[in-house]
Amino acid sequence: MKINIAIDGPSAAGKSTIADELSKILGYTHLDTGAMYRAVALKAIREGIALDDEEKIVAMIESMDLEMPADGSVILEKEDVSKAIRTNEISMGASDVSKLQGCRAALVKMQQKICKDGGYILDGRDIGTVVLKDAPVKIYMIASAEARAKRRVLQNQENGLEADYETILEDIRKRDYQDMHREHSPLTKAEDAIEIDTSDMSIEEVVEAVMKIVREKTGD
Ligand code: DC
Repeated sequence: MKINIAIDGPSAAGKSTIADELSKILGYTHLDTGAMYRAVALKAIREGIALDDEEKIVAMIESMDLEMPADGSVILEKEDVSKAIRTNEISMGASDVSKLQGCRAALVKMQQKICKDGGYILDGRDIGTVVLKDAPVKIYMIASAEARAKRRVLQNQENGLEADYETILEDIRKRDYQDMHREHSPLTKAEDAIEIDTSDMSIEEVVEAVMKIVREKTGD
């Protein structure tokens, strides 16, 4: 039977990379929920909507055409915005819109609908605590801010994006604070989540650690 797997943790802890690898091994689909908040921020900025205007943002989401295909791309109003949502401006913007309860409620509903039949790996901040409270496997992935900044620099260099270490480190610290201290669904470890510190681990080691947990839970 295909279960759903929840992966939470701060930005750049390696959640997406690990979820991608696991989805290949298990034949599951990875849903990057952070990308959904990023798409909301991108559309709001493009339309000149203030990122704290909850009413307008919720109305915008209601009529928004957002597709999250299994290949990991993000399609907004039929346009592939997979790269456009990865800039520093959109990272902060996503953190801003994710504070709004109305925005969260709308996206959580979409996420729960997408993965209702199982076979999904969701990564985000509130997956184990809100979106998939009953997920049999919950991982809370952490890493030092410095390790995460180094990884983001490499990732951004590969994608031809802003890659200044100090700027990225500062952005990570600022977003950590904002994501952990917001009023609605702040980033916290679910009581039944298993914590993995990936600071000094390779991708292969993290994948193996999570696969061990998955095998224990599914009995495979
Ligand atoms: O994972 P990410 O960096 O792409 O996420 C972008 C922002 O969206 C992040 O600052 C916090 C927010 N987010 C959230 O509040 N809940 C989620 N499930 C996923 C992301």
